[in-house]
Amino acid sequence: MAYKKYYLPKDFILGAAASAWQTEGWCGKKEFQDSFMDVWYKADPNLWHNGYGPTIATDFYNRYHEDVKLMGEIGLNAYRTSIDWSRFIKNYETAEVDEDAAEYYNDLIDDLIKNGVEPMICLEHYELPAVLLEKYGGWGSKHVVELYVKYAEQVFKLYGDRVKYFFTFNEPIVIQTRAFLDSIRYPFKQDTKTAMQWSYNKILASAKAIEDYKRGNYNKDGKIGIILNIEVTYPRSSAEHDVMAAKIYDLFFNRIFLDPCVKGVLPDELLKILKYHHCSFEFTQEELNIIKNNTVQILGLNLYAPARVKARDSAWNPSTPFHPSYYYEKFELPGRKMNLSRGWEIYPKIMYDMAMRIKNEYGNIEWLVTENGMGIENEQNFKNEDGVIQDDYRIEFISDHLRWLLKAIEEGSNCKGYMLWAFTDNVSPQNAFKNRYGLVEIDLDDNRNRRIKKSGYWYKEVLKNRYFEYKDFTPEYK
Ligand code: BG6
Repeated sequence: MAYKKYYLPKDFILGAAASAWQTEGWCGKKEFQDSFMDVWYKADPNLWHNGYGPTIATDFYNRYHEDVKLMGEIGLNAYRTSIDWSRFIKNYETAEVDEDAAEYYNDLIDDLIKNGVEPMICLEHYELPAVLLEKYGGWGSKHVVELYVKYAEQVFKLYGDRVKYFFTFNEPIVIQTRAFLDSIRYPFKQDTKTAMQWSYNKILASAKAIEDYKRGNYNKDGKIGIILNIEVTYPRSSAEHDVMAAKIYDLFFNRIFLDPCVKGVLPDELLKILKYHHCSFEFTQEELNIIKNNTVQILGLNLYAPARVKARDSAWNPSTPFHPSYYYEKFELPGRKMNLSRGWEIYPKIMYDMAMRIKNEYGNIEWLVTENGMGIENEQNFKNEDGVIQDDYRIEFISDHLRWLLKAIEEGSNCKGYMLWAFTDNVSPQNAFKNRYGLVEIDLDDNRNRRIKKSGYWYKEVLKNRYFEYKDFTPEYK
């Protein structure tokens, strides 16, 4: 098999990502500072794999110097994490900052910069303060939108001089989809209107935070965006009914955020369908203007797997509340390649197809792959005699995805970087430490000690040489 060298463009950012709640642990948090994730875990730790959760996580709060040093050694261009809103603020109404937390984030940011790693900061990776859920119904409340904007402003004021990349949200669609549409997660409600209001309010909150950021002029090189988990959506067939199913899926799970965040307008078709099903959210013209005038300056996309859909085969149960799947069913392509640990299809061409979509339909806006990666169960079985995890599958996964991305860049895509999920293994929602994602292992049997995996050494080489080698030919890649 012939191998080919794939070169990274000159200023291409090759980094890694994580979030506050998945790494930090509760150390340093005051009693009232629970986040949504914390109360979800506390509600029933048994639902979390082997009982692990955010309690200690990777103990990043105590070990970040060690981790940042490793990032520096590997030569990461950038590291993305979040600020935990519930930790950072001590009075959520006035947005009074918690000095201990502010000091910790300050030191983390400085340490990253000192080690040559560009910090990228996300303002919400599901870390809504739990008390705001209890008191106001969380993101369903416009008051919470205002409190978020006050919190965001404090972050900009404290770190905007040094942080050049801010993101308002990570995957803002996820919590309400799982909790209020699918009802598979805490607080286990089924309420489509609430889910839709949460989505709309987050779009509004993002636009308001962007407005505030622009007004503040914190850094002449600074940019602000949002991170979306847009899925490349393929219909089962080219038949009209399947294509329509894919279009509606795309509307509800992609365009609902992508259109307002990048183009400043909510899709008309979406508003019509919601009205038809009596699930419209509440909005005002003034809010729509704010959304219109405050689109993102950079877009982050988390890309893991495609969505494949078909028209429904079965009738809808009319006694259940409206769910977008009224119009589609998920479709499993026979023969597809799978990551069985996570249950996600592996289809690296999504990088290219998404890049082309952003180029052709979204004004070729500057964007980054803010997450892509491979979570694998029982990775300890891949250790060599020196105890180093031989994760060749991860190297293959990253290479294959990266080269599709590079092909898109050659064809004019404005993608500026690729951030692997994740730098170290960390806690997944409910799956906890089941599937390992890191370039660096967290050894739970050995005091959470860190050990670079084979993929970590490989990443280091790619970062140093600015190229990697991969098979010259696979059936679809031309
Ligand atoms: C993304 C999230 O959806 O995927 C992360 O931003 C998450 O928080 C990652 O951990 C991997 O998914 P999971 O469910 O395997 O952790």
